[in-house]
Amino acid sequence: MISTFDKVLVELGVGDGQLLAKILEYSNSPNTCYVGIEIDPKQIQKARDKLRGRNIYLINDSFENALSYFPDDYVDEFIFVLPPPSYIDKSMESQWILLYKNIYKKLKEKGTLTIVTEIINDLLGPVSDIEFRSWKNWLSSKFVTIGFIIKEMFDDSPCHYSSHFLDQFKADQLRIKLITLILAKSNSQTI
Ligand SMILES: C[S@@+](CC[C@H](N)C(=O)[O-])C[C@H]1O[C@@H](n2cnc3c(N)ncnc32)[C@H](O)[C@@H]1O
Repeated sequence: MISTFDKVLVELGVGDGQLLAKILEYSNSPNTCYVGIEIDPKQIQKARDKLRGRNIYLINDSFENALSYFPDDYVDEFIFVLPPPSYIDKSMESQWILLYKNIYKKLKEKGTLTIVTEIINDLLGPVSDIEFRSWKNWLSSKFVTIGFIIKEMFDDSPCHYSSHFLDQFKADQLRIKLITLILAKSNSQTI
């Protein structure tokens, strides 16, 4: 069914659907298929109550299973806002690197992955500039190793993004620093 659309946008961890609703408000194209993936049945039900349309598909499954439904070189845009720690934390890299390699494979040649993620000081104090900079360098280098090109990287989240957790995190900017990475699939076969 999805193959009848010109574009495919996939949000990973769609939660209660607040962000996808915002994205649709901002740019709902009838030729784009919007897919949300969420493992929690209660959250996906909330998303289903909010989001309806012939171009919206909400999948109640894990990222790993749901990604396997897409052919390679198929998705135009992935969005991952506030990945759970097991999908982004430094200490858990060996667990999550495979998911991003798979995302890379599923992207079209000029496709993008937008990640909004956060650093929180271990002692719950303010995040220092040095700590912030070194974390950003480490994170971006991980995605470059997979094969992504860093298209954009900026502090904070895109201004039209809003979600349950994002709104909470933005209220505590001293202790929680956000960055957005917009990663593009490169032309070279690095995987
Ligand atoms: C930190 S929340 C962010 C939710 C939403 N993006 C937001 O910004 O409010 C992460 C979401 O990912 C979902 N999630 C966690 N692990 C998952 C997995 N393996 N597969 C699918 N969804 C998962 C959680 O249930 C949760 O809704």
